[in-house]
Amino acid sequence: MLELERLTKNFGGVRAVHQVDLRVDENEILGLIGPNGSGKSTIVNLVTGVFPPSGGRVTLRGRDITGWPPHRVLAVGIGRTFQNIRLFGGLTVWQNLWVAQNARSRANGRSRGRWFTVDRAHIEATLDFCRLLDKKDELARNLAFGEQRALELARTLAAEPDLMMLDEPAAGMNAGEIEDLRERILALKGRGKTIVLIEHHIDLVMRVAERVAVLNFGEKIAEGSPAFVQEHPGVQEAYLGRRRG
Ligand SMILES: Nc1ncnc2c1ncn2[C@@H]1O[C@H](COP(=O)(O)OP(=O)(O)OP(=O)(O)O)[C@@H](O)[C@H]1O
Ligand SMILES: [Mg+2]
Repeated sequence: MLELERLTKNFGGVRAVHQVDLRVDENEILGLIGPNGSGKSTIVNLVTGVFPPSGGRVTLRGRDITGWPPHRVLAVGIGRTFQNIRLFGGLTVWQNLWVAQNARSRANGRSRGRWFTVDRAHIEATLDFCRLLDKKDELARNLAFGEQRALELARTLAAEPDLMMLDEPAAGMNAGEIEDLRERILALKGRGKTIVLIEHHIDLVMRVAERVAVLNFGEKIAEGSPAFVQEHPGVQEAYLGRRRG
């Protein structure tokens, strides 16, 4: 579905991502792991048009989308969550989803000149799925941290992406919330979504991902089944002494 070929990004002298080849199959859950600063978020940023790559190619279902701006990437069905939660704190939970839904319909030219569109049923169903329906009129900034994470996911879902890149969705969550997240990710797969899961909670990745790719210093150092990657000596070495608590 998504293919990265020799994807590269340099920030000045920093090789954030270097010659990464990566394939994400339709409807799979791909885990993307690696120590801090290994290039995981940069890959999401390159795919979703936050900044253009220094080299390489990104294709979605065979279509070259390299360097496309965010609204065009959204229009072809790629959504993402942010590692550092980015919500509209002064808007309600419901409004955060509505904004995302509008962004998608505008990007796809579906708003047909109208200022706003709204699919209330889809927003409510999405809030229900993320267990936020009873919070729909609360300001985003007043939610508990785990709820804000859930809202990040809900907002991404409101734009109805086929491919979701989740950048540390479990960061800061407690064990119960992580368990809910795990079930939600599996349910999304059941609904046909394709998911790239970036996480430092390795046990979560190992339990939900079908395949795992490992980055270190911007390069892919291993790829395979969760069991294969876990036993890989290069992976253990990359994480030794560098694992975040
Ligand atoms: N906008 C930027 N400008 C300059 N350097 C950047 C920028 N974004 C990332 N980097 C650098 O690129 C490298 C990869 O960063 P990236 O955020 O992709 O890592 P990561 O794997 O997501 O790490 P973490 O697990 O801590 O989130 C790091 O050295 C980082 O400092
Ligand atoms: Mg990151």
